[in-house]
Amino acid sequence: MVPQRLGYENLGLGVGLRTAHFNYILEEKPAVDWFEIISENFIDSQGRPRWVLEQIAERYPVVMHGVSLSIGTTDPLNFDYLARLKRLAEAVQPRWISDHLCWTGVLGLNAHDLLPVPLNEETLRHVVERIRVVQDFLERPLILENPSSYVTFASSTMSEWEFLTRMAEEADCGLLLDVNNVYVSSVNHDFDPWEYLENVPHRRIVQCHLAGHTNRETHLIDTHDNHVIDPVWELYRRAHQLTGGVSTLLEWDAKIPPFPVVHAEVLKARQYMSAEDLPARRPATPPPPIQPSADAVPHPLHLVAAEVQ
Ligand SMILES: [Fe+2]
Repeated sequence: MVPQRLGYENLGLGVGLRTAHFNYILEEKPAVDWFEIISENFIDSQGRPRWVLEQIAERYPVVMHGVSLSIGTTDPLNFDYLARLKRLAEAVQPRWISDHLCWTGVLGLNAHDLLPVPLNEETLRHVVERIRVVQDFLERPLILENPSSYVTFASSTMSEWEFLTRMAEEADCGLLLDVNNVYVSSVNHDFDPWEYLENVPHRRIVQCHLAGHTNRETHLIDTHDNHVIDPVWELYRRAHQLTGGVSTLLEWDAKIPPFPVVHAEVLKARQYMSAEDLPARRPATPPPPIQPSADAVPHPLHLVAAEVQ
């Protein structure tokens, strides 16, 4: 059996490192358990950001979280990017390296977004093979995050939790469970987020993300610009029970408040770590096959049609 969290430690409650907080952190040395950096913010930097990162990495555990791997694209893997990522890891000595189950462009063009993949056997084989190559190159497990999404594909044949389960087991990688993303996608695509939590492979979850989002009435957008809402905290409570506790990080990327506000937000997670069990929500029968919705996108390229035409 795979070890809990793939053998990685529970770092506690962390905060995403953002430029707006550099001075506060350096001067006040807040009692934060750990920091997550966006790898791309530091990958080519040799100036002040890199100096700040070195100061912080001396004092706090650091995790590297990327947005450019594009594990789902049909373009070849970018080994120049991977080499630079590996060099950053050699300098920072992160506890682990994560990215997203997504694609960020095709035909050499960058869509500047984390786009969802069709959830089917063909994509699964493609992604598993690429994860194995990346893990061999980086010489460590890759931790992949469930994305928030706004479209589904007509070619999808399985649920996201089934895809993540098979991907993690076949590629022998870890998962970053973004509880807010589960909630956002569950509303946008009308699935049960509790069923999602019950069915992901809990021992492979290395880390959780929490964040706020924006309610646009017809859909939710993963804006990372607000407090975490109560339904997401309740899902986090269940995730904590199911995983036995994993490193938890708050993402706040727009309308960023002062550091103590962000830190206080993640510390709320302590209130949801009780051993008290929630009513069982396990599905009595296997989930039904996924039926693409009437407005499902026919093909991933339709998402970036304007850029590739
Ligand atoms: Fe996230």
